[in-house]
Amino acid sequence: MRKTVIAGNWKMNTDRSSGAELAAAVMHGAGSANLPEHADVVLCPPFVVIPIVANAVAGSRIRIGAQNVHDQPRGAFTGEISTGMLHSVGCTHVIVGHSERRLMFAESDYDVCRKANAVVGANLQPIICVGETIAEREQGRTLEVVRRQLRAALDGIFEFSIRTCIIAYEPIWAIGTGNTATPGQAQEVHAFIRSQLREMYGSAAAEDVSVIYGGSVTETNACDLFAQPDIDGGLVGGASLDASAFTEIIRAAI
Ligand code: 13P
Repeated sequence: MRKTVIAGNWKMNTDRSSGAELAAAVMHGAGSANLPEHADVVLCPPFVVIPIVANAVAGSRIRIGAQNVHDQPRGAFTGEISTGMLHSVGCTHVIVGHSERRLMFAESDYDVCRKANAVVGANLQPIICVGETIAEREQGRTLEVVRRQLRAALDGIFEFSIRTCIIAYEPIWAIGTGNTATPGQAQEVHAFIRSQLREMYGSAAAEDVSVIYGGSVTETNACDLFAQPDIDGGLVGGASLDASAFTEIIRAAI
């Protein structure tokens, strides 16, 4: 049975005090002690805020994720952070291949693949992001682009570890724009992602992988999106910075 996953990507927002406050408010609002076993709520603060947030949610069922990672375990990589470092501060999840990293920091499909493999190898769960630009959608190339990104990212990840991977479909035109994909548009791509997973790993494994949607998810549209059969939760940006909005999104998902 695949899990419902609701992840908050805080991007480059919050600091020690506002991060701790936000985490405490989400814990309180989500009734973290009573979260069902089939749901994972993951907070992804900036690196330096991770320890204080991990401390704030200690003992609850709320998980911590990072927004990026380097694929090597250690060495002369100024400014980078390894999987082992993330493990040591309590992370269980890592976002890889977010479109902001692909577009603004020139991460290639190959980089995303190396990171995804490093994360899986470190017994952390990657949240692997894929999604098309508006131009690609208008050219009718959405499924081709998503297929390429997905297959490239999962190269080297075998059937025995695919269940630890979470796939996030985030159409770039929907991120931070208020132009949420319609439930139908999102479901089409999610079903396609699952069909690709089926081809690569077989039906049983594909059924167990959580495929979540990101791009202007709000407390208003969450219910309709999460009601789709292949949408298993959300990767939430802006609305995850508002504890009451994020709490309502969690409620819509579980
Ligand atoms: P918004 O929810 O702000 O559109 O951001 C989505 C996102 O990029 C999450 O990773």
